[in-house]
Amino acid sequence: MCLQCHQSLRDHPERHTRHAVGSEASRCVSCHMPRNMDALMFRARSHQIDEIPDAEMTARFGEADSPNACLACHRDKDVRWLAGSMAAWRPDR
Ligand code: HEC
Ligand code: HEC
Ligand code: HEC
Repeated sequence: MCLQCHQSLRDHPERHTRHAVGSEASRCVSCHMPRNMDALMFRARSHQIDEIPDAEMTARFGEADSPNACLACHRDKDVRWLAGSMAAWRPDR
């Protein structure tokens, strides 16, 4: 659905997602619409596409107030790992 508009990611989505094509971690919603909302019985997706994983925000506000899609899966990792991993994502930044 997302790729109907974001066509530049259609051919090699793994260059953007950095996870194996077809895996849960390569789905657009896994990072951009993570399950960060408390529903009654489970964690739900907010249905807002306003989430861009950001290590600095998570470091500043903590995981409870600034939930991070990466750390939601990589539960054994911390913000330091996240910052390093995100920096490698975009070496030019
Ligand atoms: C109807 C077309 C359309 C669809 C479908 C669509 N997008 Fe977008 N998206 C856009 C446009 C247009 C922009 C703004 C691009 C820009 O500002 O350069 C955008 C921007 C974004 C941004 C950047 C937001 C920001 O703050 O910079 C993300 C992330 C994103 N889309 C993710 C998604 C995801 C995930 C999906 C599927 C769940 C999706 N989009 C579906 C058209 C679409
Ligand atoms: C594993 C996590 C992850 C997945 C999966 C993912 N993205 Fe992203 N996306 C990011 C990160 C991190 C950024 C911000 C860093 C950057 O600018 O590259 C981003 C930025 C964006 C942006 C903002 C414009 C830009 O390039 O900076 C758009 C649009 C976007 N993603 C669309 C998508 C779409 C569409 C999909 C599904 C094909 C997708 N993303 C899957 C992590 C992910
Ligand atoms: C839906 C769950 C999920 C999300 C979201 C996710 N990952 Fe992953 N990640 C995985 C899994 C599973 C693997 C191992 C398999 C693979 O590489 O596809 C992995 C592998 C990795 C690896 C390589 C192996 C390692 O542990 O060093 C890095 C680096 C990584 N992820 C960083 C990130 C970053 C940064 C984000 C957010 C922008 C992110 N991941 C989001 C599940 C996820």
